[in-house]
Amino acid sequence: MQYPKRYIVTSALPYANGPLHVGHLSGAYLPADVYVRFLRLMGKEVLFVCGSDEHGAAITLKAKKEGVNPGEIIERYHSEFKSVFEKIGMSFDVYHRTSSELHHQTSSDFFKKLYDEGQFIKKESDQYFDSKAQQFLADRYIKGECPKCGHSEAYGDQCESCGSSLSPTDLINPISTLSGEKPVLKKTTHWYLPLENHEGWLKKYVLEGELEGEEHHDPSSWKNHVIGQCKSWLDGGLEARAMTRDLDWGVDVPADIPGSEGKKLYVWLDAPIGYISATRQWAIDRAEKNADAHEDDWKKYWQDQESCLIHFIGKDNIVFHCLIFPVILKAHGGYVLPSNVPANQFMNLEGQKISTSRNWAVWMKDYLDRWEGMEDSLRYYCVKNMPEQKDSEFTWKGFQDAHNNELVNNLANFVNRVLVLTNKYYEGRVPEIDEDIPLEGNDEFGMPSYHETELMDLFDRLDAFCESLRSFEIRNALRQVMELSSYGNQFLQNHEPWKLQKEEPDTVKVIMNVGLQIVVALSAAIYPFMPTTSDKMRKMLNLEPLKGEGELLELLNEICEGTHLLPAGHQIEKPSHLFTRIDDERIEKEVSRLRKGSEESLLKVEKEPDLKSEIDFETFGQLDLRTGTILHAEKVTGTKKLLKLEVDLGFEKRTIVSGIAQCHRPEELTGRKVTVLANLAPKKLRGILSNGMILMAEGDNGALEFVSPPEKFKNGQPVR
Ligand code: MF3
Ligand code: ZN
Repeated sequence: MQYPKRYIVTSALPYANGPLHVGHLSGAYLPADVYVRFLRLMGKEVLFVCGSDEHGAAITLKAKKEGVNPGEIIERYHSEFKSVFEKIGMSFDVYHRTSSELHHQTSSDFFKKLYDEGQFIKKESDQYFDSKAQQFLADRYIKGECPKCGHSEAYGDQCESCGSSLSPTDLINPISTLSGEKPVLKKTTHWYLPLENHEGWLKKYVLEGELEGEEHHDPSSWKNHVIGQCKSWLDGGLEARAMTRDLDWGVDVPADIPGSEGKKLYVWLDAPIGYISATRQWAIDRAEKNADAHEDDWKKYWQDQESCLIHFIGKDNIVFHCLIFPVILKAHGGYVLPSNVPANQFMNLEGQKISTSRNWAVWMKDYLDRWEGMEDSLRYYCVKNMPEQKDSEFTWKGFQDAHNNELVNNLANFVNRVLVLTNKYYEGRVPEIDEDIPLEGNDEFGMPSYHETELMDLFDRLDAFCESLRSFEIRNALRQVMELSSYGNQFLQNHEPWKLQKEEPDTVKVIMNVGLQIVVALSAAIYPFMPTTSDKMRKMLNLEPLKGEGELLELLNEICEGTHLLPAGHQIEKPSHLFTRIDDERIEKEVSRLRKGSEESLLKVEKEPDLKSEIDFETFGQLDLRTGTILHAEKVTGTKKLLKLEVDLGFEKRTIVSGIAQCHRPEELTGRKVTVLANLAPKKLRGILSNGMILMAEGDNGALEFVSPPEKFKNGQPVR
């Protein structure tokens, strides 16, 4: 495949509502950084942009929970993100933020243009409203049962359990996440983007890589799971989507649009435009410092059809980047559309989903504090385990093994051996060699010399490595680099220069020369993954650190031309260790810290319950709660959840249908003491009249346990 002329590469703007963890890193950030560093090594013109996503319910809900202003939240996380990204080596050209004036202006102008060109439909509809909080409830402000999978905590925009996209009115038994209150319906007006009108070209673009009758990109270069998700959306039929919200935090709908009062842009409209604002900020900053740079330089990245736009994201963002944002860009006109959206899946941690609320995560900030100087080891492990095609798993043991077995035993070992021997045999000066010296198995007349064969092999390996990166097979590329290092070790082992040095010093020169060339090649190939390690290697080789200015391309050309990557006579430095082993104790500490931290967070969660609204004493007094005993239990046929119970209340026996079948087996329930709400109006469930309700306590992940009175209690005693 030919390289495009110019690249604009983005990483998803992280919500400034909570700290970053390794799942974020390996999802949308590290792969982008590796790819961008690679492009730069190949001499490509590339701009890499990111920033904080500072609007939306994610931010305001967090602020409300802490009782502070949203401004405080975004300040905290924006500055944390900046520092984390810098320390872990993200090579953004600009890290911007959506709360900036420039972004408000950019996204508001964008909206105005869409409005002026009649791209929106203005529509009045009934939407859920929280009368207590006096707010309309969209997106994460409302939750309820998912109509698709039954998950009890689905949000108004999406069910995080099954991934379906939802609208608030789809939710079963919705409640406000602001107050816990049952919402009421109220009329409101919004501007909708009629996605269904764009279905035709969108299908061609996403599924066939065709735009306006021309080839736009090679659709087979998109990941299967990305295409799969898009296809299921497209097959399901697209609907108009509201691009505005009734909120007080966000980008204002332009004031000159009638009815704009109190309306903000939908966060998924403003945030991706954040990529554009970030690029504008980059151009402004550069124009200030640089006489031949111009404020409009952002345009060549976004508006010149020879630019190639690549979005790195996590899989939960696919629909926004592959369907909605392209529609927004196309509806506006004049912009390039994404050429690829290499979304990653999710990374789990020690067998469980990473979770902020349960504090089950390896927090970037903590890692950087505790493992200072070992940023590259984390980068290495997170690329090695990147959830490229399917979900992956971070384990501390895996991290230790990768570091010890691969970075220490393979890479550092090889580099060290070559440098030690070069220092020992030639006082650190690259030896002059006779390239035609034949080595074992390669001494036939007319064959390429040994040296040449090795270099051809090196070239092929690097070429295959480049091809992997070009096609976003980042894990594979890393594997190829490490295989080159293994090969280097094997090469030394096979030829045992230490045995030949006395008898055949000229042969040893050839061996060491090949070894040194491999080390130089490694210092470049490793750069996208482990930039600091590359710097260290180059320092030992007495070479300039890489700047990402076409050095890999140059190196490939040199190998092709037969130019030595280190000229004879070049003086190298004494080697120092690239990596040191991680011992078990350090890893055990991390694992126990993780477990402790998560347990503590569970206790905390219990202290901050999502309380239902207040009731008065009389209301409580109306409940007639009684002790009882289960006499008999059986499954209600045709249901997964329901059990039919016979309960003895002392004064009478009752039939009660209870949704506990997933937690309790009927044969184990006979004789169980229970607490019953005895004056609940009877209700027919699956044809059975249920007369009362059994009180259950809900544990984590929905486990239900009986709220049982002590064994010695008779049936029918009041509970209050
Ligand atoms: N903040 C979103 C998230 O973390 C990602 C926004 S990406 C952008 O899921 F395109 F909208 F910027
Ligand atoms: Zn669901």
